[in-house]
Amino acid sequence: MTESNLQVLLRRRPKGAPVAEDFEVVETPPPVPQEGEVLVRHRFLSLDPYMRGRMSAAKSYAKPVDLGAVMEGAAVGEVVASRAAGFAPGDTVMNSFGWQRFAAVPAARLLRIDPAEAPLSASLGVLGMPGLTAWVGLEDIGQPKPGETVVVSAASGAVGQVVGQLAKLRGCRVVGIAGGAEKCRFVTEELGFDACVDHRGALDAQLEAVCPEGIDVYWENVGGAVQAAVFPRLRDFARMVMCGVIAQYNVVEGADSFGGPPGPNLGAVVRKRLRIQGFIVSDTGWPRYAAFRREMLGHIGAGRLRWREDVVPGLHRAPEAFIGLLEGRNFGKLVVAID
Ligand SMILES: NC(=O)c1ccc[n+]([C@@H]2O[C@H](COP(=O)([O-])OP(=O)(O)OC[C@H]3O[C@@H](n4cnc5c(N)ncnc54)[C@H](OP(=O)(O)O)[C@@H]3O)[C@@H](O)[C@H]2O)c1
Repeated sequence: MTESNLQVLLRRRPKGAPVAEDFEVVETPPPVPQEGEVLVRHRFLSLDPYMRGRMSAAKSYAKPVDLGAVMEGAAVGEVVASRAAGFAPGDTVMNSFGWQRFAAVPAARLLRIDPAEAPLSASLGVLGMPGLTAWVGLEDIGQPKPGETVVVSAASGAVGQVVGQLAKLRGCRVVGIAGGAEKCRFVTEELGFDACVDHRGALDAQLEAVCPEGIDVYWENVGGAVQAAVFPRLRDFARMVMCGVIAQYNVVEGADSFGGPPGPNLGAVVRKRLRIQGFIVSDTGWPRYAAFRREMLGHIGAGRLRWREDVVPGLHRAPEAFIGLLEGRNFGKLVVAID
């Protein structure tokens, strides 16, 4: 093979917000697949907030990326050579191949995708880990009932856009929270949420106006000031789905304060009989992937589910795109078109 492999490595661990110098883009020869492996050429790479955690050595639910190693991430692509039974050149596959053009991957780590079902990149978003996150978190924790009010933060993003639409399909009134008028317009007009408020404006007053009776399910993607504004509006027996707190990911490790507003008074958890539960999609999600994908393809086929992607061309631009994700510069599911 004449084409080189392009890879993005973790050069150093960020202090606070990541910067371009924390990454290094290198060209290497493509890997040679061993017995039981296939060589995959990636078409799209997914950029996700969890990757900030993998850049840090702080203890977490998953092991960090080693310094000098390829950044971790899911990708979809095509098999170009196979030394594994059951896979042949031309097959479309997905898994955590990392920020690189080529990867030699054990066959057991591959998920086969039917490219006729949906655009390839959708398997990294609405039909991938973010969509599965929305589906699992609503099923297991949010459990929205018809007529309830569901509030979703980072509503125009990869997870948020699916959460809100699934809650609408379950008969709920859905309110998004997003950054800026354009994202809010997309959330209501394109995705069909009942309302959307801009967290850059006076969030307290806006929430009071659109949720006068309070909130039954809060889908937390953001934390910080957004959480502080939502929490007092939770109704008795509300569920708070703790999916992520992206506003807090760049807090310097070891610091004893997020530098944001003081945390909520957790006495309300008792008084209001709230249920607050965190989850990680990989705990229970992937064994249910087939059922999830079937339901989602049904909604897509019937025109009930829409999504927006933010496609960045060129793997070398992945570091700046990822830095932008943590600043809210993406608009929709962030993916990199590798070439
Ligand atoms: N628990 C799990 O298994 C799991 C799985 C996947 C994702 N997640 C979490 O789900 C959340 C959303 O992930 P995603 O992939 O869907 O990302 P995303 O929403 O597509 O992109 C991130 C969005 O977060 C918002 N944001 C970024 N920095 C912010 C800040 N400082 N303050 C307020 N908002 C900020 C921005 O939207 P606005 O401009 O609208 O503010 C930005 O566009 C993240 O917290 C992620 O870690 C958890």
